[in-house]
Amino acid sequence: MLALGTWFLLLTATVLGIIYFLMATFSRKRRPGEPVVVKGSLLWGSAGDFSTHAVNFLHKCQKTYGDCFTIRLINQYLTIIMDPHSFEAMSKEKNFDFDPIQKQVNWNVFGFVLKDPRKMIKETGKTVRGPNNNNNNNHNNNGSISCQSEARRPYGSDGLRAFTSKTLFNAIFNTVFGNSDDHPFNSNMAYKNFDIFHKFFNYFWLGVPKFLFPQAIDALKELLVMPESEELLARNDVADYIKMATNYMKEQGQTEADIKGHHLVYLHVNYNTFRIAFWVLSNLLEHPESYAALKDEVTAAIDEKLDPSTNTASFTGKEIESLQILDSVITETMRLSSGVFVVRYITKDTQFTTTDGQTYLMREGDRIALYPPAIHKDPEIFEDPLEFKYDRFVGATFFKNGKELMNPVTAFGSLCPGRRFALLQLKWFIVSVVRRFHLRLLDGEHAEYAYEYHGHEVLPPKKDVQVEFWAEDDGPVILYSDE
Ligand code: HEM
Repeated sequence: MLALGTWFLLLTATVLGIIYFLMATFSRKRRPGEPVVVKGSLLWGSAGDFSTHAVNFLHKCQKTYGDCFTIRLINQYLTIIMDPHSFEAMSKEKNFDFDPIQKQVNWNVFGFVLKDPRKMIKETGKTVRGPNNNNNNNHNNNGSISCQSEARRPYGSDGLRAFTSKTLFNAIFNTVFGNSDDHPFNSNMAYKNFDIFHKFFNYFWLGVPKFLFPQAIDALKELLVMPESEELLARNDVADYIKMATNYMKEQGQTEADIKGHHLVYLHVNYNTFRIAFWVLSNLLEHPESYAALKDEVTAAIDEKLDPSTNTASFTGKEIESLQILDSVITETMRLSSGVFVVRYITKDTQFTTTDGQTYLMREGDRIALYPPAIHKDPEIFEDPLEFKYDRFVGATFFKNGKELMNPVTAFGSLCPGRRFALLQLKWFIVSVVRRFHLRLLDGEHAEYAYEYHGHEVLPPKKDVQVEFWAEDDGPVILYSDE
């Protein structure tokens, strides 16, 4: 129980917070040249509309206000740019800064501040950019080893999400933290608790206090059984990214709690790869023609690379990346399942000109954002935008206002250093699954996007779907390298 004095302090702080919030919110006046501010609830602005269905909400605003308008999510003003051609200009503008956003997520969600983040991300980013990245020397971990463990079961039925967790998430977890299956901080435990903690991500990054969500606090406590830094550094199979980040943070005098917070962020970014893998498999299973086309492509590639003397087929990263149907299936899945915000903090008042020639005054202290999921569902860019078309991206170009888009799918924003590695891991995994398993959705099963999680990098499904699978034992072993 809290002492009376502590309750009093908490109450005073809350009342002062509310007064400050109301004053800051209602004293705001639109200045000449600034975009329209969309009217929302007195208290939480447009957060309710956004969380009901962000894409529908933003499309509706676009119809009324055009390609640039400002929304308020609780206490934060975000100016939304709906013109996809402005992505590159927005990414390059030096007054639009990602660091305060990253700081906000690190602190509000994971409870730490990273000292000198630019230097660290520059250095650690090299370990995952590839080629020749050395995230973990044993790349066979990425999908194939764990798929083998599932393949020991000749027949099985499971949730598709559970299957993806036991294969890909397990492989990624052990690649990042070193093989941890016998440690209390293992992939099963992390999957279960991260899933719970993650549900509250949108509340946390906007600054809603964690104590309001005891379930999330309990999950976080479980996750913090993570080994201390010395124990992790002593593991010979921990990822170079983790080693470098840990050493860097120790040199900066950061605490063990900070280091653990950082490693949870790293788990968070890798968790996105798992979430996309689920949707790739789900899309393939719901569209048998796409599964058949991909299987043909993968089988032909394996036949071409097969070394009969060893019964292996070795692929470089570039060879995997050249599989066009695989690439299209994944891009199409990211288009449909991305929930990400590309946000920057506006460090000083800036005149920003969108590519259609309109200039707006962006206010210091606000945020500017592009919302890729709204662009990904624009029917002018993508025909039948809600449909999964597995070959949509094979040799295709996309246009808006008659002009070709440089980046039609922007699910990685402009800064993600893990982009190539995450895509390679996904491709390794999907090739391994297609080669090794026959998967079938049980009758009546259909995965639905949980749209209330818009704001997460990748949307989760409303619930898991049941599949049955058979494993083939006698095919060639596939070996991957990332060059
Ligand atoms: C499918 C998986 C992934 C998705 C969808 C994803 C998406 C993103 C997005 C949207 C951003 C913000 C970029 C921006 O606003 O311009 C970002 C940043 C970042 N991502 Fe990823 N990411 C993924 C995997 C990874 C992986 C595997 C790593 C491992 C290194 C990683 C490391 C980072 C880092 C360090 C940043 C911050 C970059 C900076 O501050 O400059 N991501 N990611």
